[in-house]
Amino acid sequence: MAEIKNVLVLGTGLMGNGIGQVALMAGYNVILVDIVEEALNKAVADIEEGLKKLEAKGKLGEGETASSVIAKCSKSTDLASAVKNADIVIEAVIEKMSVKKDVCKTTMDNGPAHIIFASNTSTMSITEIGKDCGASERVCGMHFFNPVPLMRCIEVIKSADTSDDTFNTAMDVANKLPCLRGKRYIAPVLKDRPGFIVNRMNAPVQIYMSYLFDKAAEQGITWEQIDADGGSLMPMGPCELTDYVGLDTMHHVMEYYAETLSPDFKPGKVISEMVAAGNLGRKTGKGFFDWSGGRPKIDKSKKAGIFNLENTMAILLNEGCRILEEGVATGFKTIDDANMAGMNTPGPFSAGKKNYEKWAGLLEKLADETGKEYLKPCELMKSGGFVKMRK
Ligand code: NAI
Repeated sequence: MAEIKNVLVLGTGLMGNGIGQVALMAGYNVILVDIVEEALNKAVADIEEGLKKLEAKGKLGEGETASSVIAKCSKSTDLASAVKNADIVIEAVIEKMSVKKDVCKTTMDNGPAHIIFASNTSTMSITEIGKDCGASERVCGMHFFNPVPLMRCIEVIKSADTSDDTFNTAMDVANKLPCLRGKRYIAPVLKDRPGFIVNRMNAPVQIYMSYLFDKAAEQGITWEQIDADGGSLMPMGPCELTDYVGLDTMHHVMEYYAETLSPDFKPGKVISEMVAAGNLGRKTGKGFFDWSGGRPKIDKSKKAGIFNLENTMAILLNEGCRILEEGVATGFKTIDDANMAGMNTPGPFSAGKKNYEKWAGLLEKLADETGKEYLKPCELMKSGGFVKMRK
């Protein structure tokens, strides 16, 4: 395993910024690279400001100051020359396959013979990114959650070509990156499948949500009533949460899984029409609710009686079991732990061990009601076989 001293963070937008900060805090020499000079300058300024705050709170390492940490940071707009001094590239450029493939090849063509290329993509195949770079065994995924310094989870992904050595080195680097809120959790992702673990497990809940939105629109049920169904167990009901995340994001994610997992993910009428009208939720001031005056006040006194939180737990358990069936993870503890570290909510397995038979029944009914085959329980869920797959 090559010793990693110099980490090149490529693409210094929202994610690269956070990755740069934690890599510096881990003691690595960090080279920030972006094609946009202002993005680089902003990243350095933001990282420095973050480090100063930590220094003031006494949260930097023994004898370290914001200036001593930032002194290990350099920047460049030229990947081909900067990569000559790097041991690993962690890539957070825009989510476009041609750009990812391009920077991966530039890394392999110009970097030292041991260099590793780790992609932070959320939706792209790591195998495809590395396919034409000439050293696909040294390409893997390293998927962070936003904001990087605060979210504990990092998924490290093995592509069809990633070597054990590359994977182990990336796991080791990920483990060294500090988290400001609790202990980092590194989830090994053993197969390059859409959504990896955390995003994948949560994805099919959107099939259910989209169905409910359409049903409510047809039956004259208000959005407030759907959110009232969520009750006090949900800090935000389904409609408010969708507004908060952004309807365009939900639409985009559903289209992605419709292509990669099942056509049942196709976004429904309500979501599609709202996106077409430019009502994207919080970011545009209007979605299901009016956000122009801040967080909307939602009257939850009248329930619709159509949304059942237990259905979402069943959907999560089913998708978690599919992740196990496909060999993306070997045990359910990894999946539950990754969900907690990546979403700040418990995964479904702990409750699912006791409830899987009942929940499989709920899913059979839900699949019939919605006409969405994808919601049917998989074999591993129905049989309860996952219970034995802890680690
Ligand atoms: P962003 O748009 O904030 O930053 C992208 C940066 O890449 C920009 O500064 C841009 O100038 C730079 N860039 C574009 N082409 C480049 C090139 N050829 N070479 C060097 N730099 C280049 O995007 P964000 O949100 O930081 O996302 C980056 C990646 O991280 C994407 O792949 C995204 O899917 C992934 N991701 C994003 C998450 C999020 O919550 N935003 C969460 C997890 C992963």
